[in-house]
Amino acid sequence: MEIMNCAEAAQLYLRCIKIIMAKRSTRASAVTVPDKPTLPSLRAAAAGCKACHLWKLGTQTVFGEGSATARVMMVGEQPGDKEDLQGRPFVGPAGAVLDKALAAAGIDRHQDVYLTNIVKHFKWEPRGKRRLHKKPNALDISACRPWLDAEINVIKPQVVVLLGATAAQGILGNQFRVTKQRGQWLESKIAPLVMATVHPSSILRAPDDDSRHEEMRKFVADLKKVAAQLQQRRAA
Ligand code: URA
Repeated sequence: MEIMNCAEAAQLYLRCIKIIMAKRSTRASAVTVPDKPTLPSLRAAAAGCKACHLWKLGTQTVFGEGSATARVMMVGEQPGDKEDLQGRPFVGPAGAVLDKALAAAGIDRHQDVYLTNIVKHFKWEPRGKRRLHKKPNALDISACRPWLDAEINVIKPQVVVLLGATAAQGILGNQFRVTKQRGQWLESKIAPLVMATVHPSSILRAPDDDSRHEEMRKFVADLKKVAAQLQQRRAA
């Protein structure tokens, strides 16, 4: 058996330390939600979140945006390229569709809606010079979930609207099908009224003008049900 000399042993020791340190720097840490959270304290805490590996991909945490007294919370999938750069949810092409649909349904984005995502970092892969959206997986979603729960606890929205399959399945379970159950009021602990509908980016992907208009019409019809509830509750 070969015996190591002191220099070799020291080198091996250093190599082991380097491997351990490299592993530590890539390991995710748990979310730390502040005690007695407010939206500003949550936003500040989430800015340094390393609960999953997406913090290394995204430019910044894109926290939710809107009033703490908003009656409606809308939950998307994850920030896109523009949202990642600006640090604000729904400011890109899908946000423009959402704005248009909210206005058509008679919902005031600034007064009544808090917008957020089920995952708060942009997950992407390079495609030439572009950053191509990559769907978050179950681990990404569960790592980020405490932030959404904290937002819900602070705002206590009357209505939660889940935009698209990722948000809907993340909250309601993998069996949920937006195609079959969109626009229905659903049972959930997260809010008195919960509805899932399509993600506004799906309207942008419609193959032609006619189907795009039809998809937009159905999206607005779902949002009008939300508007009607807001009116009823205001009147009560
Ligand atoms: N798509 C989302 O799901 N969220 C955003 O913030 C933007 C696009």
